[in-house]
Amino acid sequence: MPSPLLWNAAWLLAIILPITESRIERKPIVRQYNLRLNQSHQYSPVQVGNGNFAFGADVTGLQTFLPHNTLSSWGWHNSSLPTTPNQTLPEDYTGVDWVTHDRLVNYAQPNPKQKDISQWMIANPHRINLGRVGLWFGGKNVSERSLSDKAQSLDLWEGAIFSSFTLNGSKVEVTTVASPHTDTVAVEVSSTLLARGALSVFIDFPYATGKNKFDAPFVGLFNVTSNHTTRLESKGNQALITHTLGATTYVADVIWEGDARIVRVKETEHKYILSSGHDTNTLKFTVTYAPWATNTTRTNFQGIHEASKTWWADYWSFGGFISLPTATNSSAHELQRRIILSQYLLAVNGAGKDPAQESGLVNNGWYGKFHLEMVFWHLAHWMFWGKWDLYNRSIGVYERFMPSSYDRAKRQGYDGARLGKMSDPSGRSAPGEINSLLIWQQPHPMYFAEMEYRSFPTHATLTKWDHILTGVADFMASYAYLNASTGVYDLGPPMYPVSENTPPNATLNPTFELAYWRFGLAVASKWYARQNKTIPQKWTHVHDFLAPFPIEDGAYVTYEGIPDMWHNASYTEDHPGLLGIRGWLPPDPLLNLTTFNATIAKVHETWNFPFSYGWDFPLLAITEARNGDAEAAVRQLLDVNNAFDELGMPEGGTRVPTPYFPAAAGLLLAVGMMAGGWDGREGMVWPQGWDVQAEGFVKGM
Ligand SMILES: *[C@@H]1O[C@H](CO)[C@@H](O)[C@H](O)[C@H]1NC(C)=O
Ligand SMILES: *[C@@H]1O[C@H](CO)[C@@H](O)[C@H](O)[C@H]1NC(C)=O
Ligand SMILES: *[C@@H]1O[C@H](CO)[C@@H](O)[C@H](O)[C@H]1NC(C)=O
Ligand SMILES: *[C@@H]1O[C@H](CO)[C@@H](O)[C@H](O)[C@H]1NC(C)=O
Ligand SMILES: *[C@@H]1O[C@H](CO)[C@@H](O)[C@H](O)[C@H]1NC(C)=O
Ligand SMILES: *[C@@H]1O[C@H](CO)[C@@H](O)[C@H](O)[C@H]1NC(C)=O
Ligand SMILES: *[C@@H]1O[C@H](CO)[C@@H](O)[C@H](O)[C@H]1NC(C)=O
Ligand SMILES: *[C@@H]1O[C@H](CO)[C@@H](O)[C@H](O)[C@H]1NC(C)=O
Ligand SMILES: *[C@@H]1O[C@H](CO)[C@@H](O)[C@H](O)[C@H]1NC(C)=O
Ligand SMILES: *[C@@H]1O[C@H](CO)[C@@H](O)[C@H](O)[C@H]1NC(C)=O
Ligand SMILES: *[C@@H]1O[C@H](CO)[C@@H](O)[C@H](O)[C@H]1NC(C)=O
Ligand SMILES: *[C@@H]1O[C@H](CO)[C@@H](O)[C@H](O)[C@H]1NC(C)=O
Repeated sequence: MPSPLLWNAAWLLAIILPITESRIERKPIVRQYNLRLNQSHQYSPVQVGNGNFAFGADVTGLQTFLPHNTLSSWGWHNSSLPTTPNQTLPEDYTGVDWVTHDRLVNYAQPNPKQKDISQWMIANPHRINLGRVGLWFGGKNVSERSLSDKAQSLDLWEGAIFSSFTLNGSKVEVTTVASPHTDTVAVEVSSTLLARGALSVFIDFPYATGKNKFDAPFVGLFNVTSNHTTRLESKGNQALITHTLGATTYVADVIWEGDARIVRVKETEHKYILSSGHDTNTLKFTVTYAPWATNTTRTNFQGIHEASKTWWADYWSFGGFISLPTATNSSAHELQRRIILSQYLLAVNGAGKDPAQESGLVNNGWYGKFHLEMVFWHLAHWMFWGKWDLYNRSIGVYERFMPSSYDRAKRQGYDGARLGKMSDPSGRSAPGEINSLLIWQQPHPMYFAEMEYRSFPTHATLTKWDHILTGVADFMASYAYLNASTGVYDLGPPMYPVSENTPPNATLNPTFELAYWRFGLAVASKWYARQNKTIPQKWTHVHDFLAPFPIEDGAYVTYEGIPDMWHNASYTEDHPGLLGIRGWLPPDPLLNLTTFNATIAKVHETWNFPFSYGWDFPLLAITEARNGDAEAAVRQLLDVNNAFDELGMPEGGTRVPTPYFPAAAGLLLAVGMMAGGWDGREGMVWPQGWDVQAEGFVKGM
């Protein structure tokens, strides 16, 4: 076994190399895309945060006019359980049985005979909005329109928001930062209005309901004050506010500098006012949200501002970086803007202890839960950009979810570990027809493990993934069904492919899933070979005898037997997952390039792109790039249906609310591959004439 020293050395090298070699002057490129705003945005907050915690602000730098959210990895809530007879506990929920080949398999789908507990399992736990911090104008009716000279900037290099405006002739300045280490927002307010008592700060706490699948743009209810409680304990320059919603309790630890006091507005409400003393024009305070009270010494505003500067400067300085010819080319400029803002937003929203939800920590989609099939899109880019520390924060989810995945497979009569889908931090997968029948999340651990091993070919990497790959490969082999009449292994039915738009009881041998099964079992086998372990025969057999790709009219189709795919509008939309077999995945060994090229052409001829969203465009870009067409790849990344707003938030488009971060994470994955190359491709893939500089990228498979 290599010494821990060697293991550390490998990590150290990966971290140090890019910076010692750094040729690109990164800071001016990053700062070129600092946000400069002059009004609030209903959908898109300006954010500070640390991956596990984010604070969304309006034009005042706080949550004054718009109740933008404060979300975290750890803040969740359960509604009370239903009182319907026989449906009062999660244990009462039974799922439904569907015929699966020659037997009944139990799937976690809503049970029509248990509607209430089924819905409870879907909506709970839900992620909560921890609180709202805004400017208080002494109860006066001040709206955003009453402010003049509004100006706001987000300095990406230090992770700080600077906001200013004039009210009634007096200037107000607000600086907002978040701690990289604790779930703290730190604020400095400067104005002569403070000393005159005309300006203070309010803190308010909302209730959570779990009523809406998409709680966007705002999460929680501020007007159901009797359903939850808050309690204030004030001591010196510190106040601890304990918020209790049913079984969920957490604290907001408020600490200020200098003379100030905090009072509760009304016993029946959860609003508190923090006012400075009458001899100061500055109010500096921090609000730390935490699951429980601790007596840790808190860092003050200045300390957090410094820590934020250091963290962000490091973030921008280490790992991959790319410089596009922005001065001479408007496409390059827009792409560079999206890249820089995505880097910022993904560090704030997509680098927590659990995989990100699609809307990150901006608002709630799917009740705040995260999806295991989306882990690929949320996490893969960190590897290509050499940001292993951020990747490592949540990759442990596979280890953590192994026990529940083994249980799931066992209940269904399969071997190994079957990963769930729409998850909360406990690993329970929410009931759903699609949730229970999707399968493309299964081989993700193989992709991650193999990429990790290429950068860190150590015993520790082998050990880390060994039992995970074993569990998942055992399931994959056991799930494949030996078709006695054809002699090959079928995938499904019932199942949903990547594009969730096919009839599950008829869906058989989808193109992408066949390739991904082959890839996954090949990696698991290689993993065993590297450890001199005997490769299970079942893995080899399934790998070698998987059903052939379904082909019609000389092109691959979504699944075997799909009726007249290219002329049926309901099949030529949603994710074009079938293109993933060459680009997203390393080329499948059985792929026929003539057929594949014909498939790309068919997708371009027939697809309903206005209905596409999220990572569809990055997927298309990677496909085009792997095919050697850099112009087409860039066109996909800038497609009119793939918009990023003024704040850099990837727009949801026609299907989901904004933001939809898989579009940002997919963009960084595509750019990472175009910059770092892949096996068999040295050098970059960019349009002719583009003067591109890139450094620190990790090569793909
Ligand atoms: C506010 O910003 C917008 C967009 O950046 C700009 O077009 C507009 O002129 C600005 N307004 C003021 C009053 O500065
Ligand atoms: C919600 O309820 C589930 C099932 O009873 C439990 O496992 C989980 O810990 C609860 N979560 C919260 C935040 O109360
Ligand atoms: C609840 O379960 C009991 C025992 O299985 C059964 O007798 C009863 O009819 C059920 N009640 C309802 C409302 O389904
Ligand atoms: C699939 O088949 C099962 C029976 O095994 C049936 O209960 C279910 O309704 C079918 N689903 C669809 C979408 O047709
Ligand atoms: C506050 O002012 C706005 C316009 O600035 C007005 O529409 C609203 O009715 C006012 N509200 C109250 C409570 O006075
Ligand atoms: C602005 O100034 C006027 C005149 O002094 C005063 O009546 C009003 O309350 C002030 N508004 C605010 C929001 O302080
Ligand atoms: C409470 O606020 C929500 C929006 O946040 C609104 O839809 C609802 O009507 C309000 N309810 C009451 C009783 O005011
Ligand atoms: C608040 O509590 C009451 C009484 O328990 C309940 O009827 C109501 O539905 C709750 N409101 C929300 C928004 O959950
Ligand atoms: C603070 O916490 C530490 C360890 O958790 C404990 O030893 C110490 O007594 C605590 N101090 C106070 C003042 O509560
Ligand atoms: C596997 O076997 C080879 C050849 O016998 C040996 O060199 C290598 O160290 C072994 N690897 C492990 C992980 O045991
Ligand atoms: C690929 O498919 C084309 C079109 O069907 C066929 O002509 C060709 O022989 C195939 N190539 C290989 C290597 O099988
Ligand atoms: C597939 O398309 C690419 C890009 O247009 C081209 O370079 C390649 O030759 C094509 N391959 C085949 C077999 O048609």
